[in-house]
Amino acid sequence: MINYKNNRLFVESVSIQDIAKTQPTPFYVYSHSKISNTYNELKKTLDSEILFAVKANSNQAIIKLMAKLGAGADVVSIGELERAILAGVSPQKIIFEGVGKTKKDIEYAINQKIRLINVESVDELQRINEIALQKDESVNVGIRLNPNIDAQTLDKISTGKKTDKFGIDTDKLNNIFEILKVSKKINLIGLSCHIGSQIFNLDVFSDIFQKMKDNAQIFIDKGYNIKHLDLGGGLGVNYKTNEKKLNLELIKKEMDKCFNGTTYNLSFEPGRYLVANAGILVTSVITIKNNGGINFLITDAGMHSFIRPALYNAQHEIEAVEISNEQLINYTIAGPICESTDIFRKNISMPKQKVNNLIVIKDTGAYGKVMASNYNSRGTPIEILVKEDNFFVIYKPLSTKELINQDMIPDWLN
Ligand SMILES: Cc1ncc(COP(=O)(O)O)c(C=O)c1O
Repeated sequence: MINYKNNRLFVESVSIQDIAKTQPTPFYVYSHSKISNTYNELKKTLDSEILFAVKANSNQAIIKLMAKLGAGADVVSIGELERAILAGVSPQKIIFEGVGKTKKDIEYAINQKIRLINVESVDELQRINEIALQKDESVNVGIRLNPNIDAQTLDKISTGKKTDKFGIDTDKLNNIFEILKVSKKINLIGLSCHIGSQIFNLDVFSDIFQKMKDNAQIFIDKGYNIKHLDLGGGLGVNYKTNEKKLNLELIKKEMDKCFNGTTYNLSFEPGRYLVANAGILVTSVITIKNNGGINFLITDAGMHSFIRPALYNAQHEIEAVEISNEQLINYTIAGPICESTDIFRKNISMPKQKVNNLIVIKDTGAYGKVMASNYNSRGTPIEILVKEDNFFVIYKPLSTKELINQDMIPDWLN
């Protein structure tokens, strides 16, 4: 769905060069059928509810597509909750996560009548109860557990170890039971966990399943009616060609081994898995220069457009949009931002490039545009959704003038 035909890059039946004739770079392009196929395969193989983690790509068109495919939503802020509802996700298919929910967040979530709020601390549980009492309304909650599992992934994307800030330590459940006992307006209906991103190790998945089942039993034994077990996101995606793919069938086998005979509504909350490989970032070469023997290829996309390489040292494949027979050169691909960390890849081999050539940074559909910023006042990229032989602009950034107009100068400075 995103591949080369006659040496030119296409998303479905649309040539990237054709998009670039009318749209300024840098721009993100997503494939409608890649997203749909990925969702359908995941849903079918895991045979569980899929709650799209909106944080991975919160464009309204993408959330709407997910909703049409049947996904629910995992949101972490009022903003994401508003997005999900506006895009047509049924409130009963929305869960609200997040380690720092404010009173305003909680009140908003209660008013929207979502499925549940996932509680991440004893303190938060008390706060929800106070708000529920004030409103004289019962509130459905889940508990996000911290199961103390090492996701065996990058430290910066690990969230389920005891020392991580997320979830409630399973050794401290007694504190939760004490509060639940006196919380008349709290209706505990689920448990969840999310231990990190880019999980590939099958043993890690079976560990999650077993710990969730064991903990659910602890709650059930105390008399709580746990209906929903959310097994988290973090399903690993490939960022390199020829990498071993995550085997969903084997994950399903582990699930069956653990949960056969139980009646929980099982769900996953993946973000990256659903969209990462369905998106690319297209950028133009602004300058080519040699400093200290290094061939820098400076592009108009930078860490302001796509921050994963600078933030996590993420390695994305980068290629020319049109493959030529020019001699191969080793380039370091860097953005235009005034920061030394603004580098996408070091020392990669590509056919010799010229200024204005189009370059593609692959697998950028997740945690791409959502993390873009206006640093250096360069603006954020356009987003485009391709369906078969048509493309649609689904995000138009604010102009520099509009951005400047967000600032206000106090009278005394005029
Ligand atoms: C609570 C929670 N759920 C789901 C996700 C989605 O993770 P991934 O995109 O790796 O599937 C995240 C990511 O940070 C998260 O914090």
